[in-house]
Amino acid sequence: MFSRFSLLVLCATFACVAALPDQVHIAITGNPGERVVSWVTAYTADTIVQYGSSASALTQEAKGDETTYRTSTTLLARTLHLHDVLLSGLQLNSRYYYRVGDSVSGWSEVFYFDTKIDVPNTPVDIIIYGDMGVSNSNQTRDLLVDEIQAGFSSLIIHTGDFAYNMQDADGVVGDTFMNLIQPIAARVPYMVCVGNHENDGRNFSQYQARFNGISRYTATTKTNLYYSFNVNYVHFVAFSTEMYYNTNQTIAEQYAWLEADLAQAVANRDKQPWIVLFGHRPIYCSNVDDMPDCSSDARTLREGPYSIDNLLAKYNVDIFYSAHEHSYELTWPVSKGQWQEFPNPNVYVNPIYTVNIIAGAAGCPEDLSYFDSVFYGPWSNYRSASYGYGHFMAHNATHLHWTQNIAEGAEGTNDLWIIKGNATEVAEHAHNFGFPPSPAPVDECDEYCFATCSSVAHRQGKSVEETHTSCGASCNCDTRVSAGKGHEIGKKVRVERSRILRH
Ligand SMILES: [Fe+2]
Repeated sequence: MFSRFSLLVLCATFACVAALPDQVHIAITGNPGERVVSWVTAYTADTIVQYGSSASALTQEAKGDETTYRTSTTLLARTLHLHDVLLSGLQLNSRYYYRVGDSVSGWSEVFYFDTKIDVPNTPVDIIIYGDMGVSNSNQTRDLLVDEIQAGFSSLIIHTGDFAYNMQDADGVVGDTFMNLIQPIAARVPYMVCVGNHENDGRNFSQYQARFNGISRYTATTKTNLYYSFNVNYVHFVAFSTEMYYNTNQTIAEQYAWLEADLAQAVANRDKQPWIVLFGHRPIYCSNVDDMPDCSSDARTLREGPYSIDNLLAKYNVDIFYSAHEHSYELTWPVSKGQWQEFPNPNVYVNPIYTVNIIAGAAGCPEDLSYFDSVFYGPWSNYRSASYGYGHFMAHNATHLHWTQNIAEGAEGTNDLWIIKGNATEVAEHAHNFGFPPSPAPVDECDEYCFATCSSVAHRQGKSVEETHTSCGASCNCDTRVSAGKGHEIGKKVRVERSRILRH
């Protein structure tokens, strides 16, 4: 057993968890007037939050309990002591100051959070992004801190891929990441879903442990791998796309739960008119740099036996947020290869399909994902291979506004209004547009050629446009179709149906 002194020395030597509480972060439970406060210590300690209406009057106290987590299966593994406390009965639209720890082991600095977002029937402004690492994320984190200092206080959703990778260096990378986001996550509830970089070979154990507060107090499922919560006008549903790529029986349980949760959400639509699903990997995307992200991997999620596209369509989900691609893409409303286009690309009025938003550009050690300038999904409305993150604003039951910073705002924004309602309600907004019927799906052979050409272009470091003429000829689609093999070939290698758009 290590003494506290020896642990201090070890932490100083190996830069692990500090002696005092660190990695402080908060979450919401979905119930107004509640917050979960979580932190980590290097050794066992009492689990106490002292809080109050000013930094000098932390007059209230709440206790939780401690669980432990071994950072690896090796003999040199560290034990992290995870602390979670549920604060309940908080005044709405108030600011609370707090610190965590205990009088023996020591206290954290004093943080504060706001409960403005808890007030019913008020607009909610939520920041959403994915794929944020320890390195190459300074710019985004600085902007987030600036926003918080300017008054942003409601909620952040990080759609998977943390730290790169939390399990590395025996979890020290995870410690570093959680401390880097502490100035953000100790002030604003930090809600999450799991990504491929959390696959530590131990059932995403680092992710599950470090966001254990969500499993304990937010998720009725008792797991942070898939869960849901309400925020004012919005029902948010988090799920794991990673189950689709790791043999795991849990996928059936998750899918059954998703069905039940979304069915209940539809029944509750008078209270939460907006239904938003978020997971890590996209089901529609146009990037051409990292095959098979936007081809077979996307198709697995979209068309496999546990089809997410089917759920989005069946329950009229308004938006599916994902990441994984280190870029930004906005689709037209799309479902099962059919899509709608609107005269104003920034205003969707009563969309009948789900809008897909891929926002994985918060910054990480890997390269930005790029797009081809000519070939992209016909259901794709806007693409940007630049860093940034977005704001989701549910103004009310009929008006939702999304804004993505392009190149962290240096190149402006891409924004989208989604407007739902009867003619009168829609007319109340300045933008009032109809929409034409969906274009017809394109030929399957074209899709096969596109997949082939994208691959060739990527290997040669050229654009698809540069390689398409010769490559398209070599695809020899007509011959393959006449030989009766077109469908078979398409099944094996084609990218998503309706992918090609030529200008
Ligand atoms: Fe990813």
